[in-house]
Amino acid sequence: MVKIAPAVLMVDYGRLAEEVLAVEKEADLFQFDVMDGHFVPVISYGASLIRSLRPRTTAPFAVHLMVQYPERYITDFARTGSDYLTVHAEVCPHLDRTIQQIKEAGVKAGVALNPSTPIEAVDSVIRDVDVILLMSVNPGFGGQGFLPHMEQKVEQVRQHLDALEIRCELEVDGGITVENCARIAKAGASVLVVGSAIFQSPDPVATIREMKRLVNPLS
Ligand code: DX5
Repeated sequence: MVKIAPAVLMVDYGRLAEEVLAVEKEADLFQFDVMDGHFVPVISYGASLIRSLRPRTTAPFAVHLMVQYPERYITDFARTGSDYLTVHAEVCPHLDRTIQQIKEAGVKAGVALNPSTPIEAVDSVIRDVDVILLMSVNPGFGGQGFLPHMEQKVEQVRQHLDALEIRCELEVDGGITVENCARIAKAGASVLVVGSAIFQSPDPVATIREMKRLVNPLS
């Protein structure tokens, strides 16, 4: 089953809990986009926001650290009660150790790749992670367009994982819409991270239901 993960970024922060809880029954998990203004140009929010939401829902939480020094924050974000913690390969010179630290903190580990970063960059940890996150936009902003050549990257990474018999989640994040979600799922994604197409739609619940129908046509 392909999962839909609403991305908590392009929300009305004055109504954040309300917007998250409104879709919690449809969400397979929530993705929290943590941005530090260094690795990406924008500052979003920190661990305290995630901690405050944790008791409000039982949905799984995934933290996407778009930060320059992720190893500094592993303990803090592990203590938010999140289930997954994903770091960017581009800012982890000691990636094996960082992934190990995440797992030692009791959280499932993910590694993210920007559009121009090849899957070979994470070959040393590919068997250790629970999630590989492929960015289909250059990170830092919601509401961008899906980079078309990323569909081929999803296919290639899916083939790579299948050839190695690796069963981690293959997440795709950025510019995913009702119009393109089925194609991205067919290319091999197992989790679609969706921000503006859900939270800026007139009916977020209906949008998630429609996406689920499109990405799991046989279910
Ligand atoms: C980019 C963010 C976004 C977000 C999804 O840094 O990571 O990709 O999760 O936002 P949309 O779906 O609006 O591209």
